[in-house]
Amino acid sequence: MKRIGVLTSGGDAPGMNAAIRAVVRTALYHGLEVYGIRRGYAGLLAGEIEPMSSPSVGGIINRGGTILRTARSEEFRTETGLHQAAQRLTQHGIDALVVIGGDGSMRGAVALRQYADLRVMGIPATIDNDIPGTDYSIGFDTAVNTALDAIDKIRDTAYSHERVFIVEVMGRHNGFIALEVGLAGGAEAILIPEVPYDLSDLLRRLDESYRRGKHSSIIVVAEGAVRATDVQKFLETHTPYHIRALVLGHMQRGGSPTAFDRVLATQLGVLAVERLLQGKTDEMVGIEGGKLITVPIEYVQMATKTVDARKLDIATMMAI
Ligand code: F6P
Repeated sequence: MKRIGVLTSGGDAPGMNAAIRAVVRTALYHGLEVYGIRRGYAGLLAGEIEPMSSPSVGGIINRGGTILRTARSEEFRTETGLHQAAQRLTQHGIDALVVIGGDGSMRGAVALRQYADLRVMGIPATIDNDIPGTDYSIGFDTAVNTALDAIDKIRDTAYSHERVFIVEVMGRHNGFIALEVGLAGGAEAILIPEVPYDLSDLLRRLDESYRRGKHSSIIVVAEGAVRATDVQKFLETHTPYHIRALVLGHMQRGGSPTAFDRVLATQLGVLAVERLLQGKTDEMVGIEGGKLITVPIEYVQMATKTVDARKLDIATMMAI
């Protein structure tokens, strides 16, 4: 193995740059060449492939987003696309590929292996934290802290104006962000797609809390569970409270990564290259119980990651 390619794919996540930096510098440290592939699999198809050096990843550990840029590519998923992607890698003499991204990006790497003679390593990076095989994916901790910062600010207005705020957070089909942010932000209720909820029950709990003397509330909803505006409409029809709905949106994906995400990204980037040097392939690096681990990359499409429902019970208990 002489030349490694590295790309970021899917939604950007804070800490992706730290992972790129770690991959590039570990590879260079071990005497390998590294090529950066721009715009994910779409850029691979287009041949947007350039050599990377140590200075090319200087001053990026603290930057959100990804210097390689990222994309979601429909074309790559086709047989023609996969064939062309494999050809591009051969043309550039790339014999190992590090894919930094979410579950879709890992699936892309698995598919590419059917067409290309190369080693592949995945690094989990998505704010959604929904990738099986790792307790944390790069970007989750930062996104949670960004959303938490927003909720702390919203609480000031909720308190001052005696309002109910429904805050919608990202997470696609999962409630990992909502659960973490809701618990950390002292939300009066958290709605996530994994656990059935009932808006009438929410209404009852809200009424009870107001009878106990509360004058304001924060309700965190995962985008995959229900829209904040729908909850607002329901509550407005059934209560006299002043309700506001807020969608935090893409602000959760940006910003400087937390120390946790930078350290995780650096450790995973180093491990990914080291595993390739050991002759390993078709793995995803990750962290489990505080220890760095690897899992077969196919595991991502075979398993489902579950939320810790106990956290929801705790949040409910704390909202009394
Ligand atoms: O996967 C990350 C994520 O931010 C999800 O939480 C969200 O549902 C989705 O990407 C939004 O995608 P886009 O940036 O394409 O609108």
